Amino acid sequence: MRDDEFPISEVGEWAKEKHERLRKFVNISRYARQKYVDPAKSKLQGGAVGGATYIDLFSGPGRSRIRESGEIIDGSPVVAFRASVESGARFTEVHLGDLNPEFCKAACARVKAIGGNSFAYAGRATDTVSEVTASLRPEGLHFALLDPFNLEGLSFEVVRALSSMKHIDLLLHLSLQDLQRNLDRYVASEQSPLDVFAPGWRQHTDPKQGQRGFRAALLTYWQSLVRRLGFQHQRAGELVTGTGGQRLYWLIFLSRHSIANDFWDKIRNVGGQGELTL
Ligand SMILES: C[S@@+](CC[C@H](N)C(=O)[O-])C[C@H]1O[C@@H](n2cnc3c(N)ncnc32)[C@H](O)[C@@H]1O
Repeated sequence: MRDDEFPISEVGEWAKEKHERLRKFVNISRYARQKYVDPAKSKLQGGAVGGATYIDLFSGPGRSRIRESGEIIDGSPVVAFRASVESGARFTEVHLGDLNPEFCKAACARVKAIGGNSFAYAGRATDTVSEVTASLRPEGLHFALLDPFNLEGLSFEVVRALSSMKHIDLLLHLSLQDLQRNLDRYVASEQSPLDVFAPGWRQHTDPKQGQRGFRAALLTYWQSLVRRLGFQHQRAGELVTGTGGQRLYWLIFLSRHSIANDFWDKIRNVGGQGELTL
């Protein structure tokens, strides 16, 4: 049922699993957020607060239809903001970007409609990220979801730009399906999506070692890049699989703080899939 005039996107059943983890993380991290939104709990001088923001640079329209069942569900920006309200420590700002201007406008309006202080940035994440980081308060607590369709969308430069914030945690969608299906083509192409995902991969990995070994080496190399940005704590979330059991994507959580990782460990569904393995 359409409840507003904005567009909705089509997604697979597995989107629900991603949203469930997002919702749980926003809920479990409420006490950390409270210190940044409540002057009485602030550690800053005079109880000054830096605020707690949610950033989603591949926001979608904030509302989707499940392809298989027709069910209408909230998209990630609405899921995250609603969860923050329900947790008692709402995000003070919500920064939403999408390549499709209609989508980020819709997401922004949908978050506003439930009381959020939202801002829209239409464009590629590689372009919008600098505008977003420039508008964030350096002393705030930030949480960013990067949820692109493919590996190329997960640009290392976007991760690097976000990492300029002192207090930021990231939840990343790493498309395993893309990595499995298109690796040979990516290795062969001169302008490779892998250059965007893991700059320098040609000097640090050997594609001749076989697909599986190469995928593992690529991921290890990417993890080393991310570690250099200060994200010592990296956790693979669940491997999300499709209805036919196909391996779709990893949710990867990055933080500079062990406490945030403890939160993530508590809410992720363990099921023996904890390590980033291919
Ligand atoms: C997987 S969907 C996002 C779904 C959303 N996070 C949710 O869970 O409801 C990916 C979105 O990224 C957008 N997109 C594709 N390429 C992009 C890019 N380079 N920069 C920003 N957005 C992009 C698409 O328009 C699409 O809405």
